[in-house]
Amino acid sequence: MTAGTHRTPARKQIHLAAHFPGVNNTTVWADPRSRSQIEFSSFEHLARTAERGLFDFFFLAEGLRLREHKGRIHDLDVVGRPESLTVLSALAAVTDRLGLAATVNATFNEPYELARRLASLDHLSGGRAAWNVVTSSDAFTGENFRRGGFLDRADRYTRAAEFVATARELWDSRTPGADGAPGEPRPVAHNGRHFTVAGEFGVDRPPQGHPVVIQAGDSPEGREFAASAADVIFTRHGTLEAGRAFYADVKGRLARYGRAPDDLKIMPGVTFVLGDTAAEAQERATEIRRQQVSPQNALLALEQVWGVDLSAYDPDGPLPDIDPDPESTLVQGRVKVGDPLAVAEKWRALSRAKGLSIHQTVIETTSRQSFIGTPAAVAEQLDEFVRTDAADGFILVPHLTPGGLDEFVERVVPLLQERGAFRTEYEGATLRSHLGLPEPARKG
Ligand SMILES: Cc1cc2nc3c(=O)[nH]c(=O)nc-3n(C[C@H](O)[C@H](O)[C@H](O)COP(=O)(O)O)c2cc1C
Repeated sequence: MTAGTHRTPARKQIHLAAHFPGVNNTTVWADPRSRSQIEFSSFEHLARTAERGLFDFFFLAEGLRLREHKGRIHDLDVVGRPESLTVLSALAAVTDRLGLAATVNATFNEPYELARRLASLDHLSGGRAAWNVVTSSDAFTGENFRRGGFLDRADRYTRAAEFVATARELWDSRTPGADGAPGEPRPVAHNGRHFTVAGEFGVDRPPQGHPVVIQAGDSPEGREFAASAADVIFTRHGTLEAGRAFYADVKGRLARYGRAPDDLKIMPGVTFVLGDTAAEAQERATEIRRQQVSPQNALLALEQVWGVDLSAYDPDGPLPDIDPDPESTLVQGRVKVGDPLAVAEKWRALSRAKGLSIHQTVIETTSRQSFIGTPAAVAEQLDEFVRTDAADGFILVPHLTPGGLDEFVERVVPLLQERGAFRTEYEGATLRSHLGLPEPARKG
């Protein structure tokens, strides 16, 4: 299908994805309904729920080194996580239509090997594979790869861009194959700044042509990379105003690469809390936020920004007057909060303006739920975001593993369908078709 022949629905459609909750500050492990973070049954439960809800894809994040805090594993990382493509291969066998998205780092992998693994998943799943390209370049992660400090931060996207281009050369280097016969290989000769690949690719061209490429960095370089090479952006800009500004910014970058606005879907990561009434939803939201951030965790979160030992501070007291130490090594790994001095100033201003304690400030800044309300109110808000170009859809991050999406699929999805804003059946078999993305032409 090409962009020109794609059927445009009368009403802008919402795309939905399910993020497996685990290593992040959304997940509540203390809830008695929480189950294993590693057993297959957990992944299967969430994936089957997402497919029942006709979601576009299931999403797995990645971290290649557990974050450390004062020399110990960061509290939020103790559960760890298994390798994404392995989990998704298993899920391919128990799902039929759901897209399967793996976060895989472009700094600590090689194009030939990763292109092979993604092409294999695309074949095994009948065209449902996606790759979320992330670009961590830090020496701390590098220590797990005998590569500490090997890539300058400035190069993270030059390597990622060449990585994606090389993977696409590899995918294009074989014909698809037909009637059970293998495709024809064509030698690849890539000679670039970061990679040299010479040889023939061992897997037929993937059913989607190229697996879907997702991008998740937020810097200007990250946005430019997304505009040039990605099919989807996973973003943190999940409020109406910030979403609209981000949406306009990245869609505005597409023309320079000969791409149309629809060729890149913007999907913020968001949370939701439902209730039978607005008041009940608010009550549940408050309770969940208390579970997500204990007083001790509030101090840890503050130390993540300040980079100094704040254990002597009272979580129920005011924020520290001392400034953060930007050079600190108290915290290792990437709990990315932006410029520490700017964040500290913002948090202090918020705490002053609203009279918030340390604990309350951290709750307010790190565990804000995006959509709170009755199923009807949440459906209305999601639809408004998409209709008014603050997003093309959402990556939903439930707070419970693995049952946190059940309620959304049972109560919100039917209302989105009633509005004509969400599919009532899968129209195609591949992730590209769910996302309304054209199949890439084979180059060369
Ligand atoms: C919403 C969002 C989700 C991300 N998820 C991951 C992840 O799962 N694993 C990872 O290594 N990096 C993740 N990142 C990090 C980015 O991909 C990127 O490497 C990092 O933000 C540095 O790039 P930047 O300077 O362009 O933001 C995420 C970033 C964003 C904004």
